[in-house]
Amino acid sequence: MPLVDVDTLLQKAEEGGYAVGAFNCNNMEIVQAIVAAAEAEKSPVIIQASQGAIKYAGLEYIVALVETAANTASVPVALHLDHGTDFEQVVKCIGKGFTSVMIDGSKYPLEENIAITKKAVEIASVLGVSVEAELGKIGGTEDDVTVLEKDAMFTDPEEAKIFVEQTGVKSLAVAIGTAHGQYKGKPELDFPRLQKIKELTKIPLVLHGSSGVADEDLKKAIELGIRKINIDTNIREAFVQGVREVVAKYPNEIDPRKILGPARERMTEVVREKIRIFGSNGKA
Ligand code: G3H
Ligand code: 13P
Ligand code: ZN
Repeated sequence: MPLVDVDTLLQKAEEGGYAVGAFNCNNMEIVQAIVAAAEAEKSPVIIQASQGAIKYAGLEYIVALVETAANTASVPVALHLDHGTDFEQVVKCIGKGFTSVMIDGSKYPLEENIAITKKAVEIASVLGVSVEAELGKIGGTEDDVTVLEKDAMFTDPEEAKIFVEQTGVKSLAVAIGTAHGQYKGKPELDFPRLQKIKELTKIPLVLHGSSGVADEDLKKAIELGIRKINIDTNIREAFVQGVREVVAKYPNEIDPRKILGPARERMTEVVREKIRIFGSNGKA
């Protein structure tokens, strides 16, 4: 079926009390693995591309790959821009066929973040494209920040209320203790903060940096209102483990298909597992 928008998927997730997985892609094998997993689990799915993915694969290739995947799939697939940082790119992605964009104004002061998000919402909503925004700062696990600094980066619930009211944004990425990349220790999520943000905004919330978050914590976050869960690192790990295994076992292998095929299967398994944890299996 043709690509679907994200807001519709998240609205259904809101009603059904589950979350939809948003998985990062960088090449054909990753796109195929994600869609194969969604098909096997009869789940809606969001495939997203970061700035890095667009730079690596090219915008046209990303769109063509994901559109092809969606058109040949029996489950709903959305194409989302992950961490869009400037308005021009958001517009370009919408023009090329993305059905959802994130405008990440989290590095700006509140007023500026509100202004660019509002502008993105105005343009996107006319075209039926979904917009996700970020409030608070979701850093990387490599960022060397103290606990106090971390707390200052977290999303403020009252600010979130104002932000949502003033921008009209339909989904919001929250900073509640997760970070992008491989965790050194166990991530501690601020659940009371999440609960408060949900109470005050009442919109689908998004969890970034979700690879490495304990399954029980993901489930609790869903109970408290997380409806979109971003996973990249776990897919990268599965890909590389798959490649390493084949190369170690068959050092003379030179057929890329024999190396990437098993890696693709491993990624499918990881995505299937996540889909079941998020509770979106059987919801397509
Ligand atoms: O949000 C971060 C994602 O893991 C994308 O990472 O910019 O290296 O593609 P990337
Ligand atoms: P992880 O790489 O930590 O899974 O984070 C993915 C993400 O948040 C993409 O926006
Ligand atoms: Zn992210």
